[in-house]
Amino acid sequence: MKGIILAGGKGTRLYPMTKAVSKQLLPIYDKPLIYYPLSVLLLAGIHDILIISTPEDTPVYEKLLGSGGTIGVNLSYIVQQYPRGLADAFILGERHIGDDSVCLILGDNVFYGQDLTRILRAAIKRMDEEGGATIFGYPVKDVRSFGVVEFDREHKVVSIEEKPTHPKSNYAVPGLYFYDNRVIEIAKNVKPSARGEIEITAVNNAYLELGQLNVQLMGRGMAWLDTGTPEGILKAAEYVEAVQSRQGFYISCIEEIAWRRGFIDTEQLRKIGRELKMTDYGQYLISLAEGEQQ
Ligand code: DAU
Repeated sequence: MKGIILAGGKGTRLYPMTKAVSKQLLPIYDKPLIYYPLSVLLLAGIHDILIISTPEDTPVYEKLLGSGGTIGVNLSYIVQQYPRGLADAFILGERHIGDDSVCLILGDNVFYGQDLTRILRAAIKRMDEEGGATIFGYPVKDVRSFGVVEFDREHKVVSIEEKPTHPKSNYAVPGLYFYDNRVIEIAKNVKPSARGEIEITAVNNAYLELGQLNVQLMGRGMAWLDTGTPEGILKAAEYVEAVQSRQGFYISCIEEIAWRRGFIDTEQLRKIGRELKMTDYGQYLISLAEGEQQ
């Protein structure tokens, strides 16, 4: 399975913060926002990952993450000339996906929870065995700014609506999607919506019509944090700080996950830690390498 991180867009809803800096590079406490979605793909065991961003920002992501060699993964980059919509990821990513299935994660989505690895593994297993699409439903108090799942009386999914004024449930669709190879053709046939974008929701509805859309509900043990507003960014940072300082375990530390997944060995982890040793982050990596953290 291939991975794609969509990290473009204009970020206008966060101006002036994002006037000169890509949204997905803003810090969430001690690391850039993109580390969080990247760590989800690593947790899923995906190590062939395409990062899509704007003409101005793509070189900055390359500077931050390089070829991925230091964390034992393969990162490639492609420019999206303008924000045409989320489904553009599969058109731009056609060569990267090849004959494979794909997991798309939005570069501004933060997930954390004990169940995450299990949920990811189950989605990949389902993709391997049945194909189709797997997306998620997450309860949100005000869902109007998201894709929203509509269920019938038997809890069967009847449609996905993008940013409905009158939502038919409180289940938002987070920015984490698994698709079989047909997604490339489906995305190519999506017509632009009223806001002029080729919507991921149209892709999901196409799978629903084929009878191949699987919606997994995420429970209250999972954190899916909002980074769409200054307040959301502050709260996400506070959450990360609170968990990290209480438990001593880092959230979305890409080097730790790469090490635990066996993408890099202890020597490499120690080396990265030494390069960052002036910071708590670097010290954390060294303590993992020395076996002081389990
Ligand atoms: O976060 C989950 C939501 O993401 C879903 O519930 C919605 O169904 C989905 O449409 C999307 O809604 P947003 O309004 O949050 O999408 P936004 O336009 O903010 O884009 C999400 C991320 O993708 C953001 O980091 C910018 C990036 N992006 C967006 C577009 C449209 C791109 O890189 N290229 C694009 O063309």
